[in-house]
Amino acid sequence: MRRRFSENRLVVASHNPGKVREIADLIRPFGITTVSAAELGLPEPEETGSSFIENAELKAHAAAQAAQLPALADDSGLEVAALGGQPGIYSARWAETPAGRDFAVAMAQVWDKLTEAHATAHPRARFVCALALAWPDGHGDSFLGTVNGEIVWPPRGGRGFGYDPIFRPDGHAITFGEMEPEAKHRISHRADAFRQLIAACFAPA
Ligand code: IMP
Repeated sequence: MRRRFSENRLVVASHNPGKVREIADLIRPFGITTVSAAELGLPEPEETGSSFIENAELKAHAAAQAAQLPALADDSGLEVAALGGQPGIYSARWAETPAGRDFAVAMAQVWDKLTEAHATAHPRARFVCALALAWPDGHGDSFLGTVNGEIVWPPRGGRGFGYDPIFRPDGHAITFGEMEPEAKHRISHRADAFRQLIAACFAPA
């Protein structure tokens, strides 16, 4: 049973300032003020879940318990069908190098593995975004947003972040890396998840 949000304060359970700002902007029209996990000095829990939803729920419940306020967390990544859904929840980890995160390395790894699997002809993929809203009494509601498309090689476009330059969403000729940010934001996995969350928990009934 979905619970409607009736409080006026929400913890954004992320230590990423960009993400916190984006979420605050989306929630503000509903008269809710946001405070970030970093501002409250909350620890970042280990992402030990085996799915996007589990990881988002873990982060949301940990923050709700610690702050004694409702909390929202997200987890996202890229799933490539011919790679059994990899990199999936390890999307950020595939970019780790001794010199820091490098998504050119992560994207090359996707293409190398597709080449090894003889699966380079229009490989199907999707971006996934899980959002979890948790209350201090233990109640939680989760939503899974997706956008389907295919992997292209070589990478195209200098916009966006992460795997955007190798992902062409269905119905479009260009990659997320080539797309105007507003156009991406209208069709992205994150937009899909937020539409579901807002309709279920925040929009006037
Ligand atoms: P997290 O949800 O902040 O842990 O991010 C997971 C990783 O998934 C990011 O570091 C990116 O590699 C990837 N990812 C998630 N969303 C996107 C997106 O919209 N474009 C490109 N990469 C993404």
